[in-house]
Amino acid sequence: MSRTVITALTGAGESELVASLGATSDYVVARRCADLPDLLAAAAAGLGQVALVSPDLRALDRSALHELSTHGLVVAGVTEPGDDLGERRLRQLGLAVVVRTDIASHELQDLLDGLVAQAGATGVEPGAEDDPDPGALPGSRRGLPRRADDDLPGPTDVPCRVIAVWGPTGAPGRSTVALNLAAELAVHAPTLLVDCDTYGSSVAQALGLLDEAPGMAAACRASDQGTLDLPALARLAPEVSPRLRVLTGVPRADRWTELRAASVEHVLTTARRLATFVVVDCGFCVEDDEELSYDTLAPRRNAATLVTLECADELVVVGAGDPIGLQRLVRAVQDLAGLPSPTPRVVVNKVRASAVGARPERRIAEALGRFAGMDDLAFLPHDQATVDGAMFAGKSLAESAPASELRRALVGLTEPYVAVAPQHRRRRRR
Ligand SMILES: Nc1ncnc2c1ncn2[C@@H]1O[C@H](COP(=O)(O)OP(=O)(O)OP(=O)(O)O)[C@@H](O)[C@H]1O
Ligand SMILES: [Mg+2]
Repeated sequence: MSRTVITALTGAGESELVASLGATSDYVVARRCADLPDLLAAAAAGLGQVALVSPDLRALDRSALHELSTHGLVVAGVTEPGDDLGERRLRQLGLAVVVRTDIASHELQDLLDGLVAQAGATGVEPGAEDDPDPGALPGSRRGLPRRADDDLPGPTDVPCRVIAVWGPTGAPGRSTVALNLAAELAVHAPTLLVDCDTYGSSVAQALGLLDEAPGMAAACRASDQGTLDLPALARLAPEVSPRLRVLTGVPRADRWTELRAASVEHVLTTARRLATFVVVDCGFCVEDDEELSYDTLAPRRNAATLVTLECADELVVVGAGDPIGLQRLVRAVQDLAGLPSPTPRVVVNKVRASAVGARPERRIAEALGRFAGMDDLAFLPHDQATVDGAMFAGKSLAESAPASELRRALVGLTEPYVAVAPQHRRRRRR
């Protein structure tokens, strides 16, 4: 059975490659596209099963490859002979197969067969595989940075845990919990705090960092352009205190379009190699905006949160300890049931007697147990003065109020995670 191929090749060897394709027994060229929009339109029209792209195809990025894969195409790269830079760029975009225009037809057939079989077997999107570590020098160990960089953490013995911190609308304290959870985890192992809130990022301000810090927007842009590797991510996520790195959010909420699903996923995948813990501050909304839109390929504001929930190993759901906050919390946990995400760990924040009556923890536990079947809850006390003090100083509670009850409760939150994490070992400085 022959498979249809659509090409978008820019170099002089285009016709040679098309001739090689024609000489294969299983692949026929359905369309030779002039540019990326033409290619995407052909893909959307279902004209091809395989797409071939050149490295210098204008506007080719990770999101475009993701779009091709959503139409069910597998993608391979094509370069002119000797174009090592082009090949490197295509591999950085996540393409596992890159061929040269002078490839023999039987070799081309074998490579495409392998690619199609792999995509069919794994269901992995072409272009979305984990990077073949583009930052690694030939001969260097996979997962280690290209250049010696003493600021990068050394390899750890356990896989990284990505912890999503999410919660309903109404500012229950997602960012406060995410920031302080990350700060406490950093006591034990290298930790990266990522601000993925596309409605109102706040991590930069809370830590007194420059609002213009490039952070997540730059990381996503680098991912789109195929230049995101471990050293690049480390540069964008500076260490703000020992072992705690921060990737700040989009500085203005109207820049949410910069956090596309494919690039957020790639940033989180790369982050797994940068830290033992990755704590992600998510936006509140998990509605699937694809359903609200005519154009299923339009950027989705909630994609960053949805992708994070899907990629995460652990999920902390934060609700506020007052009647409205608790009602929203119950609904939020119900909403999660329909989403690919880890089992939620529920944290009730801002717990105070003035909002729910005497012995608030007991009352909240009884109410959530009876009406929502939630029994494993963690509580954080309401302590405005302490939280305000930390915000004013641009610090975590571990730094600004280490002996406070709220800080102690946050330390308790880290226990299930640090139980499996190794104590951090730093590579010796040269
Ligand atoms: N335990 C607490 N005690 C008192 N105040 C708190 C506590 N936790 C958070 N706050 C305050 O509640 C407000 C909202 O907190 P935060 O920004 O963490 O919420 P959020 O869920 O991230 O909100 P947003 O929807 O804006 O992202 C802040 O003013 C913060 O100082
Ligand atoms: Mg927030």
